[in-house]
Amino acid sequence: MVRIAVFITLVLCLVIPSKCIDPNVAINFAVRKYTQLSEQLSEDDPSTGFITTADPTKTTWYKTDVMDWTVGFYGGSLWTLYALTHDDHWKDLAEEYQERIKLRQYDTSTHDVGFVIMTTYGLCREYTGTETLAIIKQTAESLSTRFYPTVRVMRSWNNGAGDNADEIKVIADNMMNLELLYTAAKLTGNETFSSIATSHADRTIEEHFRNNGSSGTYHVVAFSERTGEVLRKYNAQGLRDNSTWSRGLAWTTHGFITSYILSNHQRYLEYAIIAGNYFLSHLPYDFVPYWDFDADITASYQPRDTAAGAIASHAFLKIYQVTRDAKWFDAADRILENLNTRYRSDGSDQYKINSILVNGTVFFHQGNFNTAIVYADFYFLQAVKLYREILQENSNSSNHLAISKSLVGVFCVFLMKVYHNGAEY
Ligand SMILES: *[C@@H]1O[C@H](CO)[C@@H](O)[C@H](O)[C@H]1NC(C)=O
Ligand SMILES: *[C@@H]1O[C@H](CO)[C@@H](O)[C@H](O)[C@H]1NC(C)=O
Ligand SMILES: *[C@@H]1O[C@H](CO)[C@@H](O)[C@H](O)[C@H]1NC(C)=O
Ligand SMILES: *[C@@H]1O[C@H](CO)[C@@H](O)[C@H](O)[C@H]1NC(C)=O
Ligand SMILES: *[C@@H]1O[C@H](CO)[C@@H](O)[C@H](O)[C@H]1NC(C)=O
Repeated sequence: MVRIAVFITLVLCLVIPSKCIDPNVAINFAVRKYTQLSEQLSEDDPSTGFITTADPTKTTWYKTDVMDWTVGFYGGSLWTLYALTHDDHWKDLAEEYQERIKLRQYDTSTHDVGFVIMTTYGLCREYTGTETLAIIKQTAESLSTRFYPTVRVMRSWNNGAGDNADEIKVIADNMMNLELLYTAAKLTGNETFSSIATSHADRTIEEHFRNNGSSGTYHVVAFSERTGEVLRKYNAQGLRDNSTWSRGLAWTTHGFITSYILSNHQRYLEYAIIAGNYFLSHLPYDFVPYWDFDADITASYQPRDTAAGAIASHAFLKIYQVTRDAKWFDAADRILENLNTRYRSDGSDQYKINSILVNGTVFFHQGNFNTAIVYADFYFLQAVKLYREILQENSNSSNHLAISKSLVGVFCVFLMKVYHNGAEY
């Protein structure tokens, strides 16, 4: 009996690795792929647009025009590669690229300018110290025009023909644009920006979390512009109105932890943890989520969404940084390790695409899944970068993570000895 228990514990010790992903291996692969991708793109006429998603069995990416919500992410990956390697090659490419999307600072037609500008001019400022404040401020002014004081939110989608003109629609993804507003407030001292962000985040807590988050989150909430009341809560990219769309929950988790770090409002940390816990407790064995947490995996084939996994792993590392709760580090570690071993673009002879990851879901209901996606690669790189920084920090200060890892190691050696001795009887 005792020997069986010791044996099981021993096996657990050996299969629970103290560190799963080697960030340098992931970074080397990314550098190789993005070198090929940037060379490939340098031959294209810039007027053909901006890469967004791709069929991994083809060599070329689909492109969008400059007004698409995803145009910042390739630039963000270039900046992240610069930060990871300190190689000016990536900096030059990133600077050249972001010039092409500069006009988006004046865009008041969508909420997504936070994504577009923070992944380019925001990271440029952070990684090089080049002052891009004027662009960040202008973008924050553009985004602020979408705020409706009666509703206390920023409009996400505009109404189309045939829509109820009184509706203000807010999607969970909009939490990701608050980083721009909090950053602009900090840099300019204009508190209008941060009060809009706080108001929007508070209303998201009230309306997007089902049963205070214990039953997941909604994708879309539509409010009345006239009265500020909720008109309907529904779904667009997920399975059904009250299911939880994986990427929506990943955006929510990331948006709340980033808002907490920038605003210091404790409740945003609480809701990042609520969202993160739901995400974590609904993952399959390989820690990479299906496209919707309520997808019926017993009935038919359901694709994964590696983008949701990458976004969540970055969010979890941020939660770890502020809470120092090893659970979040380990969760991010598992996701990243599985993305890096099971969902990479070198995983099959059929893959021809220059990307890091495959098996993203763009839009399930349009049959658009098992794709490469620019933002899956971007958040994967951001997560690997933060993962490597945390490892370095921990090995310098030998804090609890390093200590707990080595204690596990010592315990395993001890058990091995006990088992070995026991086996001799
Ligand atoms: C702060 O930003 C808001 C929103 O763009 C703007 O209306 C206001 O004039 C700004 N305040 C100052 C002091 O610049
Ligand atoms: C919702 O969760 C928060 C954070 O855990 C908690 O402080 C709050 O009391 C909960 N609210 C309700 C209505 O259960
Ligand atoms: C979810 O929504 C569907 C219809 O959209 C409804 O049939 C079902 O009862 C709802 N489930 C819950 C738990 O609210
Ligand atoms: C990943 O995508 C490929 C097609 O590109 C597909 O064959 C494979 O089943 C997908 N993996 C999973 C786990 O769904
Ligand atoms: C950890 O130590 C290395 C080498 O001494 C140093 O380059 C790095 O900046 C340190 N990292 C942190 C986060 O202190």
